[in-house]
Amino acid sequence: MDKLIIEGGTKLQGEVEVSGSKNACLPVLAASLLTAGECQISHVPQLDDIGTLLDLIKHLGASVSREGDRVAINATGINSVEATYDIVRKMRASILVLGPLLAGFGRARVSLPGGCAIGARPVDMHLKGLEALGATIILEHGYVDATAPQGGLRGGKVVFDMPSVGATEQIMMAASLASGTTTIENAAREPEVEELAHVLNQMGASISGAGTNVIQIEGKDILGPFEHRVGPDRIEAGTLIAAAAITNGLVRVRNLRAEHMESVLTQFRKVGCEIHVDASEMRDLSHVLVEGPQRLRASDMRTSPFPGFPTDMQAQFMACMTLADGTSHIEENIFENRFMHVLELVRMGADISMHANLAVVKGVSKLSGAPVMATDLRASASLVLAAIAAEGTSEILRIYHLDRGYERLENKLNALGAKIGRVTSSSSQKH
Ligand code: EPU
Repeated sequence: MDKLIIEGGTKLQGEVEVSGSKNACLPVLAASLLTAGECQISHVPQLDDIGTLLDLIKHLGASVSREGDRVAINATGINSVEATYDIVRKMRASILVLGPLLAGFGRARVSLPGGCAIGARPVDMHLKGLEALGATIILEHGYVDATAPQGGLRGGKVVFDMPSVGATEQIMMAASLASGTTTIENAAREPEVEELAHVLNQMGASISGAGTNVIQIEGKDILGPFEHRVGPDRIEAGTLIAAAAITNGLVRVRNLRAEHMESVLTQFRKVGCEIHVDASEMRDLSHVLVEGPQRLRASDMRTSPFPGFPTDMQAQFMACMTLADGTSHIEENIFENRFMHVLELVRMGADISMHANLAVVKGVSKLSGAPVMATDLRASASLVLAAIAAEGTSEILRIYHLDRGYERLENKLNALGAKIGRVTSSSSQKH
């Protein structure tokens, strides 16, 4: 099991490029199952989660080729509609193949993901949504067994209890190959949903309203292939901004989409960072120059669906607040168990108390390096941030969580002056 050894206390300086977004890329890869043509996807990040989904797509019988950051998928050869437990348990987002398989092949059998470190994360809204399009769903032996009606899925009205990113993407994909029109109410408004809608429209679907809470999808009998460059990862970009903030650094984070990051930029300005946004030579993108203050100021924060402050940045923001002047109240409103980093941060000297979904963070004058354990993807990132700002050496264990969603974060941070080494051990088990 790999671990990171981090020598804290350096001020980060320099420029860093943002990679392609994991959470935008995953549904786009799943959408390639909706067509028999060859789909070309570029700016694909090198991440374990992306590798897991590509393995699943191959396992279904599609051909997948990968060269650098480019992936080509051709689903013509699909000969299985089953996503087994051994793949789904590695990554919950595997459930995203359910809608495309069901819409394209009339049947899908996908293992139920089960709980995960950050919460129960049920998939009930995915299933109710597909039922509203006419699917029959049977839950048996730990699997979702879904069958489309004779003649295929048909458009319907789907009303979500809460805006779920994955369920919105699932229904958009299935409805794109259904007959008639589907309306999704209380849809998620996250940029990743908009990016998927853009791809599905390129395939020939007719989707309007993505980015608002009501989405309309006019299904088509057949969809064609697409070419897509994955947009920048707003959570990786936010994590790099947090790295500048916590080390009193001066970092230019290159090629992000600033309009997707308003709440994060506002929050980091509030705690004392100087942030300047300027245009990139790449269309629609920006560079952000971040200067962290000598000492951050405490500020309250609550996570909420887009355009609110993202839950995926909560742990990293909390790491910053452990070293701020004053007390911050941090409220987690999306997942019920997303404070797994708290006790590890406390082991590094942070003063944090937890009250249900509220963490009260009293800023301390310094953190001290310690051996700590990563528990989920974003928790791992928060420990890396705390460690680069701490006095002395930290060891971060179980960083396979980090590799699921950050493209070699330590290389990017080291290029900015951090001192992070990776100890690779192939002998021990991952789980
Ligand atoms: N929920 C249900 N039933 C459902 C679906 C969701 O109760 O059928 C609940 C969840 O348990 C949660 C809330 O609804 O409490 C929102 O979950 P959502 O469905 O929006 O999350 P997701 O689609 O499973 C994606 C990201 C997560 C990110 C969330 C929220 C991907 C692959 N994952 O998950 O990313 O935290 O949206 O923005 O897009 C990460 O990258 O670290 C990560 C966890």
